[in-house]
Amino acid sequence: MTITYPPEPFRIKVTEPIRLISREARETALKEAGYNLFALKAEDIFIDLLTDSGTGAMSQAQWAALMSGDESYAGARSYHRLKAAVEDIFGFKYFVPTHQGRAAENILSAVLVKPGMYVPSNMHFDTTDANIRARGGHPTNLVIDEAFDPATPHPFKGNMDIAKLKAFIAQYGREKIPFGMITVTNNAGGGQPVSMANLKQVADVYHEKGIPFFIDAARYAENCYFIQQREPGYEYVSVKDIAREIFSLADGMCMSAKKDAIVNIGGLLCMNDETLFGNVKNELILREGFPTYGGLAGRDLDAMAVGLYEGLDEAYLAYRLHQTAYLASRLNEAGIPTIQPAGGHAVYVDARAVLPHIPQGEFPGQALTVELYREGAIRGCEIGSVMFAHPDPETGEMLYPRLELLRLAIPRRTYTQSHMDYTAESLTNIKSRAESIRGYKFTYAPELLRHFTARFEPL
Ligand code: F0G
Repeated sequence: MTITYPPEPFRIKVTEPIRLISREARETALKEAGYNLFALKAEDIFIDLLTDSGTGAMSQAQWAALMSGDESYAGARSYHRLKAAVEDIFGFKYFVPTHQGRAAENILSAVLVKPGMYVPSNMHFDTTDANIRARGGHPTNLVIDEAFDPATPHPFKGNMDIAKLKAFIAQYGREKIPFGMITVTNNAGGGQPVSMANLKQVADVYHEKGIPFFIDAARYAENCYFIQQREPGYEYVSVKDIAREIFSLADGMCMSAKKDAIVNIGGLLCMNDETLFGNVKNELILREGFPTYGGLAGRDLDAMAVGLYEGLDEAYLAYRLHQTAYLASRLNEAGIPTIQPAGGHAVYVDARAVLPHIPQGEFPGQALTVELYREGAIRGCEIGSVMFAHPDPETGEMLYPRLELLRLAIPRRTYTQSHMDYTAESLTNIKSRAESIRGYKFTYAPELLRHFTARFEPL
């Protein structure tokens, strides 16, 4: 029997109520929030697709593991359980826990990045980008050009452009590149995977020049599942073995455990180099905590140790990636274009295609994001001009990003197919009255990371 969308491989034992407030109440909430969905009260949201980070549902095994948390300051049993899982799955010689992904990025950048250095990747996530910049470095994105074309499907749209990478290294040289990265899956580019073939080429290019290779592994398990499904030669290889193969190519990794390790808080920083490990531990003690807990409680380490294996479970991954594809296909059937193909953790709606009459300077992505809350009390996230437009430092002319997107990120094991149906229907209703939707202007915007705190007014 072929099943188009595999059902949830779990049943629900504990529920958390959500409520749909009236349309009037939503209007008031929007006004009070300055039309910025980050400023809403979570209790006024019916379906929260702001992020898949730390918002997943833990399993009974994870909740049980919390109870065995060992809160010893140093050398806790919880640490050793996590260590066994990390060594088994990733195979690096050394690791430290961190409180989340950006803490691992901060420590790696603090130890390795000096002013004027360059760190290439397919696409850096915004916290990685900001952590490299905070140390005076230049994060650089070298993803393949197909990543910027939302309509064209490509099985591995997260791939690095190898020719660009070689030219980049030739231009700046080993001394200016403390390490090279790649993000799997590529969140900033639509949650798109990187192929094993590409990862091998990237590793070879970095290693030929003696550049350490670090992976941003936030959604590595989803990437591994895509490889199994799409890359010839891997159809019979287990997701866990694919993961082992990927990490055997690298010298280390940073990971936000809030995604594919299905915990509400946590992160990892792994490496093979002993000297680097020594420096990392010193920085960690200063910023996060002793190396056997790294800013987390013992119970958090235990939940992560269990969650790492659950994130690799193939029945779960099949359901997970099909849930995302299901939402994308329902939208596409209704004539709402999304980045093709659907990503792992999120559906990225092409807001300019839905609201072609709103110019980029009036924030079509933001307009669609606000409208989805107004229509269905659903919270998504603008990834467009609010987040990325900035004036050219020399000419002062406004530079706009290539894409205006509404990201619908799906928390793990949290919402069901009927929640996806409701989301698709809400967007379909919006499409039918799209012409009447207006743009927005800022009433307040800080200089950096303005999407978090900006306020708006409808035009
Ligand atoms: N790397 C990637 C690829 C990410 O998507 C994130 C977070 C991080 C690193 C940072 O991890 O949040 O644990 O500090 N992404 C979230 C998102 C916030 O909504 O996409 P963190």
